[in-house]
Amino acid sequence: MRVAIFGLGYVGTVTAAALAANGHEVVGVDVDATKVRLVAGGQSPVVEPKLGALVRAGALSGHLSATTDPATAVAGADASLVCVGTPSSPTGSTDVRAVERAVGDIADVLASGTRVPAGGHAVVVRSTVPPGTVDGVLLPLLRQRLAGAGVRAGVGMCPEFLREGSAIADFYDAPLHVVGTESEHVAETMRELFAFLPVPLRVVGTREAESLKYACNAFHATKVSFANELGRLFRHLGVDSRRVMQLFCEDTKLNVSASYLSPGFAFGGSCLPKDLRSLLFVARMNCVDLPLLSGTLATNELSVSDVVNRVVATDARSVALLGLSFKADSDDLRESPYVDLAETLIGKGYEVRIYDPVVDPTRLVGANRRSLESQLPHVRRVLRPSAALALADVDVALVSTAHPSVVDALISLAPPRIIDLHGRLGPGVEALPGYEGVAW
Ligand SMILES: NC(=O)c1ccc[n+]([C@@H]2O[C@H](COP(=O)([O-])OP(=O)(O)OC[C@H]3O[C@@H](n4cnc5c(N)ncnc54)[C@H](O)[C@@H]3O)[C@@H](O)[C@H]2O)c1
Repeated sequence: MRVAIFGLGYVGTVTAAALAANGHEVVGVDVDATKVRLVAGGQSPVVEPKLGALVRAGALSGHLSATTDPATAVAGADASLVCVGTPSSPTGSTDVRAVERAVGDIADVLASGTRVPAGGHAVVVRSTVPPGTVDGVLLPLLRQRLAGAGVRAGVGMCPEFLREGSAIADFYDAPLHVVGTESEHVAETMRELFAFLPVPLRVVGTREAESLKYACNAFHATKVSFANELGRLFRHLGVDSRRVMQLFCEDTKLNVSASYLSPGFAFGGSCLPKDLRSLLFVARMNCVDLPLLSGTLATNELSVSDVVNRVVATDARSVALLGLSFKADSDDLRESPYVDLAETLIGKGYEVRIYDPVVDPTRLVGANRRSLESQLPHVRRVLRPSAALALADVDVALVSTAHPSVVDALISLAPPRIIDLHGRLGPGVEALPGYEGVAW
């Protein structure tokens, strides 16, 4: 394929050199004439292991060239990949002006009557941009500049996951290969362009692809800070945090795994809140600040208040809470966030009915019973013996269990509003008109 790469920095040069090495005809474009001269002469403009050799090979084979002129690069090209910088502005917002300028340049060339392949031209962003930039800013810009030109062009987002220092290895052994697009032609172009990669291309919505890159970087940053926070505390306690974290990482079932990474409702139960508070107390006693872990408790409370606010924003008067224990298939009510939710809604004057397929208040004993009686003293009044009775003529259902009796009752009674707190209710409930997810 013939490809134009806009931006010859770390991402652009690696992408250009790797695509050229795999037989594509690549033309790099940059506003910086020095970088263009270097790439055209077979030298890498950035220091990155193995990149110099790849750029040299590309220039020698004639598969890789560079220019400051967008028209030279875009003429006859199947795709343009936009790899320009998206720095932070002083407010913390992302400055996407270079991306807009590059896409504007591409559109102007396409509209100028240049040669465009019969299938059209794919404009694909590799720069990291805030969700909504591609379909909300770049697609309208492209459409406006191409109006009346009779040129077919689609947009997409193909996030780059490479790390500087191991960029070439990461490019060829990418953990994920994703394109976000609503255009089948763009998806097909990207499939063909990157056919040499060992991972299959995943085609998703444009905003999902943009968000994925932010999720990855936010998670990586959180991991670093998590380990460093624990390290700061454990050192005070005379503990070798390296050893602790080595063992921690050996648990690939709960720790380094997909566990606990599904968006949903707040955590609770007899261990997580208690032990987190305990760790924060030890840190305070040692004058060690743990803002990330303190923030974890704060954000957990927001998960509850967000759902309360969503109920308050409606004109609902009655609420059914389906599921009360801190997780499905357990009757443990200690520090259950659903008990908090019920308590807050009752306090605000809502008519609350609760059904839990596992919790039987007459059989609760010990701390579990005390916890319920102290937090929800009116529990006997609000509990219903079946999901159907809890849902009868209710305005809003808040659902945390996918027990078959709950799913069946939701489908047959179809309450006007259902807020799914866990995302396991299945297509029958998700298809109901009143359905909405807590975070989707
Ligand atoms: N560096 C990384 O490790 C990495 C990894 C993944 C994603 N990203 C993202 O990729 C994007 C590029 O990052 P980078 O580190 O390669 O940036 P960089 O600053 O190294 O390179 C950007 C290049 O774009 C050029 N440029 C600016 N405006 C242009 C225009 N209108 N036309 C052509 N060229 C133009 C600049 O001159 C510069 O050479 C950013 O959005 C970044 O967040 C970076």
